[in-house]
Amino acid sequence: MSKATTSKVVLITGGTSGIGRAAALAFARRGDRVVVAGRRVSEGEETARLAREAGGDAVFIQTDATIPSEVEALVARTVERWERLDCAFNNAGITGEMARTADCTEENWHRTLSINLTAVWLSMKCEIRQMLKQSSGVIVNNASTAGLVGMRGGPAYSASKGGVIQLTRTAALEYAKQGIRVNAVCPGFIETPMTDAHARVNPDLEPWIRRIQPMGRLGTADEVAEAVLWLCSDAASFVTGHALAIDGGLVAQ
Ligand SMILES: NC(=O)c1ccc[n+]([C@@H]2O[C@H](COP(=O)([O-])OP(=O)(O)OC[C@H]3O[C@@H](n4cnc5c(N)ncnc54)[C@H](O)[C@@H]3O)[C@@H](O)[C@H]2O)c1
Repeated sequence: MSKATTSKVVLITGGTSGIGRAAALAFARRGDRVVVAGRRVSEGEETARLAREAGGDAVFIQTDATIPSEVEALVARTVERWERLDCAFNNAGITGEMARTADCTEENWHRTLSINLTAVWLSMKCEIRQMLKQSSGVIVNNASTAGLVGMRGGPAYSASKGGVIQLTRTAALEYAKQGIRVNAVCPGFIETPMTDAHARVNPDLEPWIRRIQPMGRLGTADEVAEAVLWLCSDAASFVTGHALAIDGGLVAQ
């Protein structure tokens, strides 16, 4: 089959860097049409340019995933441009501040939950409404191994990612008979700007990650992107409600 007949319309939130950017480029290499959403204009335009160079079509739409009207407009503009929405990767997220449960501030709690969990739900709402019109679509949410097991010093992060996994399972059940699949990826520690920022202030972090991740290394954004691509593909046509760990064996221990 030619690229034109298999080319999908893909929406990625937080596509300005890290795993989101790697996913945008991986979809683009297949010839897909990618909407890169994020807050930072120059980084978003850069991802879209790299995606076009990689062989796909791509456009950047500035979007704060926590603002309902912006998320609604994002999906509307995607459909206006390319008439449908085949795949959505709800990836935008932050780690928030690291502090144990009794020391976590309300501000950190609400901010982390707002970006990591509420924004995923807002995105899913708009995406699912479009996918119902088409009777088809695939959603992949970016959770974390911190949603599968506890994470000392990250109560808001861990709770938000656990919430993403449950939201994923719930929507998967709700729309299983309507042609919509919903899954989550659960990365372990991956080399991205998010991890780099923590490693800069804590030099012990990287050696610790290498010790606790059984493969003895950090994962790459490309390795997560490959899993997202597979979950979005027809090769995963019977997979829904799944939370896929991509973690070098971290949660197998
Ligand atoms: N790097 C890791 O080790 C790791 C592990 C598990 C899960 N994750 C998850 O992967 C996802 C991507 O993170 P990353 O590691 O690529 O880091 P990253 O910081 O490069 O990417 C996060 C992206 O989300 C964007 N973002 C944040 N708030 C936003 C908002 N309100 N609206 C729109 N965009 C927003 C950021 O600008 C950034 O582009 C996150 O959800 C993160 O929790 C990362």
